[in-house]
Amino acid sequence: MCPDRHNVVSHFDRIAPVYDHLNSIISWRRDKRWRSDLARWMNPRSGQIFLDISAGTGDMENALKAICPRVEVIGIDPSIPMLELYRKKVNSAKLTKGVAESLPLQSESVDGVICTFGIRNFQDRLLGFKEIHRVLKPGSFWGFLEMSTPHGFIFPHVYSLYFKRIVPLIGRALSSDPHAYQYLRDSVYQFPGLDELEEENARAGFTMKDYRLILRGAVILAIFQKE
Ligand SMILES: C[S@@+](CC[C@H](N)C(=O)[O-])C[C@H]1O[C@@H](n2cnc3c(N)ncnc32)[C@H](O)[C@@H]1O
Repeated sequence: MCPDRHNVVSHFDRIAPVYDHLNSIISWRRDKRWRSDLARWMNPRSGQIFLDISAGTGDMENALKAICPRVEVIGIDPSIPMLELYRKKVNSAKLTKGVAESLPLQSESVDGVICTFGIRNFQDRLLGFKEIHRVLKPGSFWGFLEMSTPHGFIFPHVYSLYFKRIVPLIGRALSSDPHAYQYLRDSVYQFPGLDELEEENARAGFTMKDYRLILRGAVILAIFQKE
């Protein structure tokens, strides 16, 4: 089922003030480490231009610049309140309001693309992947982090209990929006696994180069190359 763009964006507009805090609690403060792992894999170099899609509050720019302070990062996100928080973190940020399905950039203009916890929100994932392919220079990489449903015997039950019962309570306690984390839960459980994402990326013109299933697939890190 495709998420409705207006509803998704207004969801993030509403939770923006508590987003970082909630993220950190829900991931047991591991989100920063996962972002650093992705940034290390992407290996940014001075003068390169990286595009951060679904840039949110800007944590990925900091993770990339911790590896290479002189990489240039362009952040794109449809939620203005999220981008305002980004601006507070990174004064000099280059930010644009926009969606993955229609990137406001020239073809073959960027050296790397990243998207952390954003793909779930794309209204048309394949179109988003095709747009990423369009803006990347030939041979370059794109990488994402995304939440999905974990595998195994016991862990999925523990995870489901945590995610479906405890996370909404945390969401309700921190946010004035009673439905704040209902969307998160629904979108994670409707999200496909790595096989389907690999297949969609292949249709967009990418080859998967590496992946890691973190917490038995509760978080996927995957890297693709434009051939
Ligand atoms: C869970 S947040 C992730 C923010 C940040 N990347 C992070 O790692 O914390 C998801 C972001 O996706 C954005 N978003 C929603 N629809 C989108 C779309 N169609 N294309 C790109 N981003 C979208 C939301 O505005 C939100 O900021």
